[in-house]
Amino acid sequence: MHKIAVLAGDGIGVEIVPQAIKALDKVAELFGYEFSYTNGLIGGAAIDAAGEPLPAETLELCKSSEAVLLGAVGGPKWDNLPVAMRPEVGALLPLRKALGLYGNIRPCFLFPMLADSSTLKREVIAGTDMITIRELTGGIYFGEKKREKLAHGGEYAHDICAYTTAEIERVAILAFEIARTRKNRVTSVDKANVLETSRLWRETVVRLHQERFSDVELDHLYVDNAAMQLILRPASFDVIVTENMFGDILTDQASVLTGSIGMLPSASIGGKVALYEPSHGSAPDIAGQDIANPIATILSAAMLLKYSFHYYEAAEAIETAVNQVLEDGYRTGDIMETGKTKVGCQEMGELICARIKK
Ligand code: IPM
Ligand code: MG
Repeated sequence: MHKIAVLAGDGIGVEIVPQAIKALDKVAELFGYEFSYTNGLIGGAAIDAAGEPLPAETLELCKSSEAVLLGAVGGPKWDNLPVAMRPEVGALLPLRKALGLYGNIRPCFLFPMLADSSTLKREVIAGTDMITIRELTGGIYFGEKKREKLAHGGEYAHDICAYTTAEIERVAILAFEIARTRKNRVTSVDKANVLETSRLWRETVVRLHQERFSDVELDHLYVDNAAMQLILRPASFDVIVTENMFGDILTDQASVLTGSIGMLPSASIGGKVALYEPSHGSAPDIAGQDIANPIATILSAAMLLKYSFHYYEAAEAIETAVNQVLEDGYRTGDIMETGKTKVGCQEMGELICARIKK
């Protein structure tokens, strides 16, 4: 029996997570696995019910589970709370930190039949199949923050960006190891022409490469150039490894390559318990209407099977079902094209489950 913590969170979180659970249940039935789900409060839902965005009980639940499936957190209702109480900073970041999830794996794969859903040209994005490994528990997100009033008027603020060798090494090792299971290419992204943290980043990656991973092809891009190359020649990337904030920005940009951010799953690993969530947010503008795309969350469940339980066949069965549902012409609003069949969130979940085969 595998214990999974389920944190649906806010907005479309409560609509998409049940679709991923349906997919896990279908896999359990076909492959003879047993999953138990325990719901926990997080984000705005936790603020409303328990007065804080990440109750101790939720953290305990996550730590005592084998994996965590998360929907999304946040919404306009909680945007004006003091910053430490807000769902993003008060729940998501401390959860990542507390679970030691230093490696955020964001695959960016273009299902060929969605090539026209992107704003980018089909011939540019064709063949896109890459993974970004984003460092997730360091850098400017977690460095000292300060804000104070100045005597002569105005204010002063700073956010410190800091990295240690060890923090860079462990995420770089993850990237090299994942590259070995793929096309064996790593692109390390930094801003070593300007930032000291980036110089340490690059030196560390180069040294590790020489010492332990010289069989992997390695190149380096400055982050501004990487942003450009990502939309110029996306299909040439295999594994990108980068620091926390650069990874945050580049992965939103990369989502456009797949047609919709509603297609992008993620896994955050490194500690005893890993966390799986779609790369998108809680989408308050479309919440409660049963129109959200559940595919990113369903694919996150497939990553859960792969990374937490090593159930590779079951993970592939889910990915194949997603491919099949798209092949059969079903689309949620975000990836809709003329001539296709528009379906809602629940129906998409059901259609995918019906296509999961052993
Ligand atoms: C992400 C999100 C979060 C981040 C926000 C919600 C704090 O944008 O997971 O990419 O910046 O890490
Ligand atoms: Mg982001």
